[in-house]
Amino acid sequence: MNEKNITITMDGTCGSGKSTIAKRLAERLGVIFLDTGAMYRAITWKALRSPIELDDTDGLIRLARETEIRLNKGDEGTRVFVDGQEVTRVIRTPEITNAVKFLADIPAVREVLVEQQREIAAARSVVAEGRDTGTVVFPDADYKFYVDASIEVRTERRFKEFIDKGMETTREEVRADLEKRDHADKTRPVGALRLAEGGIVIDTGETDDVEVNLKNILGHIK
Ligand code: DC
Repeated sequence: MNEKNITITMDGTCGSGKSTIAKRLAERLGVIFLDTGAMYRAITWKALRSPIELDDTDGLIRLARETEIRLNKGDEGTRVFVDGQEVTRVIRTPEITNAVKFLADIPAVREVLVEQQREIAAARSVVAEGRDTGTVVFPDADYKFYVDASIEVRTERRFKEFIDKGMETTREEVRADLEKRDHADKTRPVGALRLAEGGIVIDTGETDDVEVNLKNILGHIK
């Protein structure tokens, strides 16, 4: 893949397996995994540690403009830095997950991050993963995928994941949380999750086997 930069986008619902597939696809192709969700998480991490309140829209926009987010390729996937400090792990907590929407729903904050995402992809080939990468960030991407599975399948997967990790939860709780996140993702005023024009739907409901789903995707890529 040296001749020309290639952009592949992968949007979809949470729990569909899109992150795992996107990461694996980037590895397989030897290109950068552009984890846009990590960028929204990173800016939220900084906001929560600043005196700015989450309902202070202007303050959050300023914060986004002043923040330097860097994505570096590491041995175990993409490493995330905020103003030079590594935040790869700390941005994955439920505290951050629950607070992201305060920033992700502000159009001007999204503009800042979208511009950075385009800059990253201007210089190199990427697999970009998120909610709006095929619709807003890279509408002219070479390949646009939309990964999904039914709510029942996603609930069962997430529930098993949590139980395997020793967490206490119920199927009802997991399903309600997924439905809440689907609703937030699909109804946000800007950057809402939807199938891009010319997007290819990948249904991971048939199998949990990442390799099978990856093979399906690779079959679309020339
Ligand atoms: O994919 P994730 O769970 O790491 O994403 C974290 C949050 O960021 C999630 O609430 C949705 C939001 N997000 C977004 O609004 N736009 C994107 N392109 C990626 C993520």
